[in-house]
Amino acid sequence: MNDRFIVTIDGPAASGKSTLAKLLSKRDGFLHIDTGALYRTVGYALGLNPTKEQLDNLDLTVEKKDRIVIKYKGEDVETFIRTEECGMLASNVAKLEFVRDFVNDFARKLAAKGKYVIDGRDCGSIIFPDADLKIFLVASIKERALRRAKEDGKSVLKIEKDIEKRDKQDKNRKVAPLFKPKGAVEIDTTNMSVEEMYLKVKRLIEDRYEHNNS
Ligand code: CDP
Repeated sequence: MNDRFIVTIDGPAASGKSTLAKLLSKRDGFLHIDTGALYRTVGYALGLNPTKEQLDNLDLTVEKKDRIVIKYKGEDVETFIRTEECGMLASNVAKLEFVRDFVNDFARKLAAKGKYVIDGRDCGSIIFPDADLKIFLVASIKERALRRAKEDGKSVLKIEKDIEKRDKQDKNRKVAPLFKPKGAVEIDTTNMSVEEMYLKVKRLIEDRYEHNNS
């Protein structure tokens, strides 16, 4: 039996990645590593254009609880980093190779023995190309904007424009662009309930687990 089981979830903005990862964490005991949250934290702390030196000196700590708690200057950043402004800052710092190296190392070091779910843009392609199960989530831009609008109460049209811009930037950048990783299972969540999405992935995990241990 393997002592590590890794599920990666990649996909564009608001496609359901973190909802799915949180459910796998809560119900099935996977530890959730949210790589987007790391990019968001770097953007939040250092702005659009950080230097390597600033990153090396960043006062960032993590705690392994039911989720990975990211702390900047000793404070949990979760409530500050979820705005679309931070999303765009994240997308900008994510173009820098030294920032990507930092996040990739972080994720790889955290995922030792156990069950992990890791979500972002390059988790199944670059961070864990040998993951046990790779999921690629997609949904229509309208549906994704509606979901984000429900979360933060802003206008659907404005959010639609913002996430379209960010997706374009993420898909077209030179370093680690967003694409469906080799061997990933694509799931279109546009007309799916959260529960349907979760059950579909849970079945895939069970199949893969049996396959690994047979
Ligand atoms: O939640 P949402 O899908 O809107 O974004 P996120 O996963 O928190 O990621 C924020 C931004 O970080 C993305 O738009 C990407 O530019 C960047 N990112 C990345 O480049 N690679 C990752 N593995 C994760 C996030």
